[in-house]
Amino acid sequence: MKRIAFIGGGKMAEAIIKGLLGAGWAQAEEIVVSDIDRSRLEKISADYKVNTSISNREAAAQAELVLLAVKPQNLEEVLGELAETLRPGQAVISIAMGKSTMFIESLIAGEVPVIRVMPNNPAMIGRAISVISYGRFVDEKARASALGIFGCLGDVLEIEERHQDAAMAISGCGPAYFYLIAEAIADAGVKLGLHRDLALKLAVGTMLGASSMMRESGMEPARLRDMVTSPAGSTIMALEALEEAGIRAAFFKALEAAYRRAKEV
Ligand SMILES: NC(=O)c1ccc[n+]([C@@H]2O[C@H](COP(=O)([O-])OP(=O)(O)OC[C@H]3O[C@@H](n4cnc5c(N)ncnc54)[C@H](OP(=O)(O)O)[C@@H]3O)[C@@H](O)[C@H]2O)c1
Repeated sequence: MKRIAFIGGGKMAEAIIKGLLGAGWAQAEEIVVSDIDRSRLEKISADYKVNTSISNREAAAQAELVLLAVKPQNLEEVLGELAETLRPGQAVISIAMGKSTMFIESLIAGEVPVIRVMPNNPAMIGRAISVISYGRFVDEKARASALGIFGCLGDVLEIEERHQDAAMAISGCGPAYFYLIAEAIADAGVKLGLHRDLALKLAVGTMLGASSMMRESGMEPARLRDMVTSPAGSTIMALEALEEAGIRAAFFKALEAAYRRAKEV
């Protein structure tokens, strides 16, 4: 019996496998990966020495945990294939954006525990924040397994499932917002005469420092901002310009757009 089967061996599956092996949560021989793309399986087997199978059914049948790592549009087809294979002693973990535990349960024959998780892109380097919600049949064993797996990739927050799409708009899409901000700040630095690599290093280092300040001090961002904003100084001039450009309204709109899209999938 394998500990975990990955159905879909793409970018996210690879990030999770790397995290599990790195943390010693599983050994390579306890992992099996299936994918429709043989070249993908060859690569993942060469890089991580895990077992592979071209058959989703065969992979799922031999594991305690079945992690669905296909795109949301392929989920229904994959569950159709696995419906008769999955059994209550196993647990299903889905990372497919926008797909509810109820939807997944409705496509499975028995009372199989179903867990929905949304990790994010920094999972690639073990710095994800993942949100996790539970379906009707989840027991303590399945819950502990899911928390253990995603704990290998970074932070994990348990949330009510009705908040998953809103969380997606923050942490799922969020890395792209911060990449855009870093790029925009670096461009503005170039306009002021800095070389791009210096401007980008300053932007990224500042983001990292500011995030650590928020996390480690436990202070509200507004309070930290006050602490670096002197009267009539440069920072308040910059903040005024950002407010005039509508930075807050832009984020309200951006998150609403992401939320709407997550609901449509
Ligand atoms: N990337 C992220 O940052 C991120 C973050 C959170 C959650 N997610 C979720 O993670 C899931 C996977 O995303 P990803 O970025 O890893 O996608 P991906 O790289 O495209 O990986 C999906 C893999 O599944 C394969 N596949 C497609 N249909 C299949 C089937 N019927 N049976 C077995 N394998 C099949 C794909 O092969 P082909 O390429 O040949 O189709 C591909 O190798 C998505 O549901 C996404 O919503 C992703």
